[in-house]
Amino acid sequence: TSRSASFPQTASDHERGDDEYANVDWDNLGFRLTATDYMYIMKCSQDDEFSQGQLSRYGNIELSPSAGVLNYGQGLFEGLKAYRKVNGSGLLVFRPEENARRMQIGADRMCMPAPSVDQFVDAVKQTVLANKRWIPPPGKGSLYVRPLLLGSGPVLGLAPASEYTFLVYAAPVGNYFKEGLEPINLIVEDETFRASPGGTGGVKTITNYAPVLKAQLQAKKKGFTDILFLDSEDKKYLEEASSCNIFILKNGVLSTPSTRGTILAGITRGSIIEIARDLGYQVEERLVSVEELFDAEEVFTTGTAVVVAPVSSITYRGQRYKYNCGGDAVSRRLYKALVAIQIGQVEDKKGWTAEM
Ligand code: COI
Repeated sequence: TSRSASFPQTASDHERGDDEYANVDWDNLGFRLTATDYMYIMKCSQDDEFSQGQLSRYGNIELSPSAGVLNYGQGLFEGLKAYRKVNGSGLLVFRPEENARRMQIGADRMCMPAPSVDQFVDAVKQTVLANKRWIPPPGKGSLYVRPLLLGSGPVLGLAPASEYTFLVYAAPVGNYFKEGLEPINLIVEDETFRASPGGTGGVKTITNYAPVLKAQLQAKKKGFTDILFLDSEDKKYLEEASSCNIFILKNGVLSTPSTRGTILAGITRGSIIEIARDLGYQVEERLVSVEELFDAEEVFTTGTAVVVAPVSSITYRGQRYKYNCGGDAVSRRLYKALVAIQIGQVEDKKGWTAEM
């Protein structure tokens, strides 16, 4: 589908040159919402398929008080990033098809119709292009794109909603953690669990996120950056942090917990596994016991929002374990290799970036 005929254009859109930037303090972007110009919306009914969406001005949406998403949490979100190419004038979106596929898997779990991969990617591209002036200058950050799939139709008894809304908005972002690119400090959470077998930990449903807020706030009060969850059955195996996946390095081997249905199959996680193997590292996806943190050389987290964040320490049952985060750390090397592809600094031999 091409850009809808009803694409709202204002005089300033016409006058605006391609190189014009929005009025943003690009040097102080954190991970906060900055309202941009446009969002994309597409709707469909329960037994139908998504067909036609369109851009509209970014703003509030109207929902029935009995919308499925508001009452029963029938919703998914995604996150991906667009960059200005570091050399040249193009825009790059990182692996949008992967987010599209993940949304389809999540939609199946949550009984929702999902946009096709093409519809999803087209909507992301339209949203990025329409908000181009909000994409940070090269090296300053990215445009974080947030697709949502919501049960927007009214329900009262517990059942799938009668109508669904696919929405894409975007905001310029810099570093996720307040530490910036500095190493982060985690605490292992062994009382609250993020996911359980047979649950929804492996899909990106909105209902996986609010339940971690309480433990996260308590950890932040104690000075930690984020929490690291254990599995809910054995209370012994690493799962993920509240917003990112985890890797450890020991004896030169990288390991990350296998997803097992309780851990989100992060797109950055998958990309880092591939990049590390290309660089010659052995990477294992397996059960990783919390005790392996005691003598790991490095620990780092990965995610779209966090990219690759070196972990300086992890606290578990009152004991603090420290890790190498120096300039020679493997995590730094992986970060650089990933970002180089994302911003077009090196040739994208994997076909991961969609150029516009
Ligand atoms: C992302 O990394 O894109 C996420 O969706 C995590 C979110 C909690 C910011």
